Amino acid sequence: MTFVGEDGDETNVEAEVGKNLLEVAHENDVELEGACGGDLACSTCHVIVPEEYYKILPEKQEEEEDMLDLAWGLTETSRLGCQIIVGPHLSGMRITLPEEDR
Ligand code: FES
Repeated sequence: MTFVGEDGDETNVEAEVGKNLLEVAHENDVELEGACGGDLACSTCHVIVPEEYYKILPEKQEEEEDMLDLAWGLTETSRLGCQIIVGPHLSGMRITLPEEDR
């Protein structure tokens, strides 16, 4: 997988199956905040995923929707990184970090 930062810099990572994207980001020094540690109580782990991957991700829970509504730079394919669990189907995904976080 590749994280694409605010300034366009790319970080290629080996993501372990079963981890969430917030954990993967932190293990690889990618600047994704994740203030609440994955408890769906913030939107600082907001990421933008390509449409083809967005479509195959499990549906958002209501709590995730609510938190995303508060996220800066929300897009049609925004998700909370802590809620995306790595699996083989996500191999090669490019994950964009929003321009400005809250
Ligand atoms: S880290 Fe707070 S909702 Fe994901």
